[in-house]
Amino acid sequence: MNLAIIGAGYVGLVTGACLADVGNRVVCVERNTERLRVLRGGGIPFFEPGLAEMAAHNAQAGRLAFTDDLPSALSDAEIVFIAVGTPADEDGSADLGHVLEASAALGRAIPRDMVVVVKSTVPVGTCHRVQALIEETLRERGAPWRVSVASNPEFLKEGSAVDDFQRPDRIVIGTEDARALRLMAALYAPYNRNRDRLIHTDVRSAEFTKYASNVMLATRISLMNELARIAEKVGADIEAVRHGAGADPRIGHHFLYAGVGYGGSCFPKDIQALARLAADHGESTPLLDSVQRVNEEQKRVMAAKIRRHLGPSLHGRCVALWGLAFKPNTDDIREAPSLALVRELLADGATVRAYDPVAADNARRAIDHPGLVIVPNALAACEGADVLTVVTEWREFKSPDFRGLAGRLKSRAIFDGRNLYDPEYVESCGLAYYGIGRGARP
Ligand code: UGA
Repeated sequence: MNLAIIGAGYVGLVTGACLADVGNRVVCVERNTERLRVLRGGGIPFFEPGLAEMAAHNAQAGRLAFTDDLPSALSDAEIVFIAVGTPADEDGSADLGHVLEASAALGRAIPRDMVVVVKSTVPVGTCHRVQALIEETLRERGAPWRVSVASNPEFLKEGSAVDDFQRPDRIVIGTEDARALRLMAALYAPYNRNRDRLIHTDVRSAEFTKYASNVMLATRISLMNELARIAEKVGADIEAVRHGAGADPRIGHHFLYAGVGYGGSCFPKDIQALARLAADHGESTPLLDSVQRVNEEQKRVMAAKIRRHLGPSLHGRCVALWGLAFKPNTDDIREAPSLALVRELLADGATVRAYDPVAADNARRAIDHPGLVIVPNALAACEGADVLTVVTEWREFKSPDFRGLAGRLKSRAIFDGRNLYDPEYVESCGLAYYGIGRGARP
């Protein structure tokens, strides 16, 4: 099929590269000139495992192209995706500016009947707004084309987006138009494993499914973090509890890891946007509000533990920090718990020596402070440091030389924000161990 994608950001680019890889011809429309330059030069503007190779391969094969010219991208397209950003507005609602701009541009440029697919995460009702806006613009042009707007939310995780796209748990397609459904089903056939991944809903339910999924996942994390705090007080180990509770198939083992709070560009924004949407409809959201509050508090627990260990003042102290990205395998630091921790340590007068395999440049841009020194490797972070805190569970942090660390860290302590280590083993190597919710070790 011939496809156009508006927005070559994270979602648009992964979608475009993957759909090109199964034989479609895809043109991505990107108006950011710097981003377009990088893409046309064969690069990608962010870190995502496997994506650069896939994009380059398909571009060379003539199946994936980049342009800033929407009409030319639409000239052969049967389906056009809207995959532009929906950042949080000042009041927490999703800012639909880019989506509505793209819709108006589509109305001005669409050259035939077309299926428009909204991939951006948008509040319930947006697809209908998009449909109305495109139809109005077509009418103004006197164009007779019939447009059908479908919702097709994405469930990609940063760091494994290519694999998630190629092996989806579900492909949600929200449309009330049989022709659009047939076209979308044909497009997604290569990913419809066992032919049971496709879930057809009405448009509004598809839009809502995306928010519902993200807030359920975020709720699990905040619940585990709250349980971890209680576990610490009562002397239980949240890691053992996770195993035991997760063994119930109704609960399941996935996404039950207590830690330093969730971050990223999706959970914080989507919970806020759903709470805002509910408020606009006169509904209160006590559970969603608590999930957010617990998360904000959770981002502060490590600083409190470090303060307790090193004494109330951190003046003159140095903290080594491993992991700045909000999760492994990405350079994304949006809403990352590391940023909250670094800011708090700096405000308390400490210096921070931080290392991350790929997020260093982004972190440097986010926090410009002489007290934050970003170093090129994990060991360098520990030079002259009093203690070490691990914030992101990159693989290279999983089995460090604890005895070596005991020799380097002046105050001989590890603050494990992801419960990566066995407390008894760490202690046997001469270090104090502080995790999240780990029994009698506060
Ligand atoms: C999330 C969802 O998982 C995707 O399904 C969704 O498509 C995406 O948002 C989106 O809306 O675009 P992502 O933000 O990439 O994906 O990252 P996750 O792997 O979900 O992790 C989010 C945060 O939760 C991270 O900070 C992670 O460290 C934290 N987390 C995750 C925990 O603290 N504990 C866990 O058990 C799992």
